[in-house]
Amino acid sequence: MRPFDDIDRLAKTPALDRIAAPLRDTVHKVLKRQDVKDALHGVWMGHPLHPVLAQLTVGSFASAGMLDVLPRTRRPATALIAIGMVSAVPTAAAGWADYADGHEEQQRVGVVHAAANGVMLAGYAASLLARARGRSFKGALWGWAALAVGTVGASLGGHMAYHQAMGANHAEGYPHIGPGDWTDVGAADELEEGEPTRRIVGDVGVLVVRRGRTFHALADRCAHASAPLHEGSIVDGDGRGECVVCPWHGSVFRLDTGSVVHGPATAPQPTFRTRVRDGRLELAVTGYPGVPAS
Ligand code: FES
Repeated sequence: MRPFDDIDRLAKTPALDRIAAPLRDTVHKVLKRQDVKDALHGVWMGHPLHPVLAQLTVGSFASAGMLDVLPRTRRPATALIAIGMVSAVPTAAAGWADYADGHEEQQRVGVVHAAANGVMLAGYAASLLARARGRSFKGALWGWAALAVGTVGASLGGHMAYHQAMGANHAEGYPHIGPGDWTDVGAADELEEGEPTRRIVGDVGVLVVRRGRTFHALADRCAHASAPLHEGSIVDGDGRGECVVCPWHGSVFRLDTGSVVHGPATAPQPTFRTRVRDGRLELAVTGYPGVPAS
């Protein structure tokens, strides 16, 4: 049995849903404003915010643990623990926002990840208290204990990101495996006006939407967690052109560029070039999202 197989068992433990589901519902009730959710997901920077902030929190705590080993460095270690505690607030907020839009298996691991981090923060609070009372060695002991628990929490977070693909770009493969050459997908007139439709191009599914003689084509697999976008709805994107709304967690993508209007997705949908030849619609994958087609 490999150590991380046990984490997979956590993901397959429905008993955790008794905690995970109410927590998810509470986050949805608290986080109502779309602009706040988008900010916490990291839509504004095109990358999940939680792992970026976690660098500061984990880095501060780990550095404090090392300084506590060295002579005459307890004061900077204390300052680093204080920085870690303050940065943990936005780090946790961003994490909870992502958690609420995860799937069940991710949320089961997520509650254990959050519990470990909660214990870690309690340990660091005890460490700061001991240091404030002049008991610096006791404070260092609390700090090392908290760091050990935090390492478990961070490992669980890494498992969620790398093994369960939470926060990963699920449409990343399109520019690599979608056909670069023009590929026939059927008669252009067969497509109904404004209807999201799925077409297969080479090995990949594509969402196609017709507007008169204009055809929009995006990767059908949502960048957030692989939902089929052709089952979503087409809406007006607040003055940013027509958009598709993901049927699972409500990410909104522009039809013309694939860019993210609202999260939880932070990566844009890969797009396809379109043309009509002899009444037949042809598609070819564009380069990496945000990079002009050659
Ligand atoms: S799969 Fe979650 S927003 Fe699309």
